[in-house]
Amino acid sequence: MIVLGIEGTAWNLSASLVNEDTVLCEASAPYIPIAGGIHPREAAQHFAGSVASVIRQVLRSIDPDLIDGVAFSQGPGLGPCLRIVGTAARVLSLRLNVPLVGVNHCIAHIEVERWNTDLKDPVTLYVSGANSQVLSYRHKRYRILGETLDIGIGNCIDKFARSAGLSHPGGPKVEHLAGTSQNYVPMPYVVKGMDFSFSGLATAAQQTLSSAPVEDVCFSLQETAFSMLVEVTERALSQTKKTDLLLAGGVGANKRLQEMLAIMCEERGAEFFRPKSEYLQDNGAMIAYTGLLMLSHGVKTTIESSAANPNFRPDEVEVQWISG
Ligand code: ATP
Ligand code: FE2
Repeated sequence: MIVLGIEGTAWNLSASLVNEDTVLCEASAPYIPIAGGIHPREAAQHFAGSVASVIRQVLRSIDPDLIDGVAFSQGPGLGPCLRIVGTAARVLSLRLNVPLVGVNHCIAHIEVERWNTDLKDPVTLYVSGANSQVLSYRHKRYRILGETLDIGIGNCIDKFARSAGLSHPGGPKVEHLAGTSQNYVPMPYVVKGMDFSFSGLATAAQQTLSSAPVEDVCFSLQETAFSMLVEVTERALSQTKKTDLLLAGGVGANKRLQEMLAIMCEERGAEFFRPKSEYLQDNGAMIAYTGLLMLSHGVKTTIESSAANPNFRPDEVEVQWISG
């Protein structure tokens, strides 16, 4: 089976062709804000201007008759961006006369990493710009065991980074600066049951910039936020009695977060697979591959039910492609 997938929830407009075994082709047109963070209308304008050329690039690599389905990111994400991608996917599915399938972006982050690691039934820590969740599969759903009560960890870091004069996305720059310090400045650590909150931490880090060097604030922000994530992830492993940990989403590229998770897993005898950075950030392949799993198990999306779903939660999806 060959599926064409289109991702476009926030910043990376990307189309890809995959089969069961590999990514056949990928073309992307990322939106990079000139100043500040991601502006939904500007991102959507960029998507509208680039979507045809991105799709054309992948179509050029194959005989279109070989394509068995079209997958698209249906949500969660920025409404104006989702609508561009949804429109393109509907047109393409009608034009190629193949089924359409709307994919949950969070589940796609998980499935592409399961594909990369061959993990059957892990606990997943999914950390990206807008989302931060700890998930685990049970009875046909990815259950959300813990999540952020306000902003995602990536947005927390990016927001702080902008106030420190670092350009978007701030994650890699904050990681670099954090690596040059060992001085911990106390920051608010907020874990409530299985949930966490990052908005107060972003504000506290911004305020601390007036009294501490930027690298110390970066270090302290990372140590605090990542400790919160590790605490909840460890509890999720303990509660589910699962022994594999998967890391997904753009913030998963952070080496310090990977190191902290590896230490936690080693101490409790769990397996942690350091992800390859290639498919952690948003990409078309993760949508195409999840679409392939769905289509090959008979899941399709009708045109009528293909509207953008900006608040699409992963536990709304019935997971037909995993047995048990
Ligand atoms: P979502 O999946 O919630 O829709 P998204 O689509 O914006 O979010 P991704 O592409 O999965 O996000 O991740 C982007 C985020 O990853 C940005 O916030 C960016 O700063 C962060 N990021 C990328 N590299 C690193 C790094 N090395 N350390 C920390 N954060 C990072
Ligand atoms: Fe994402």
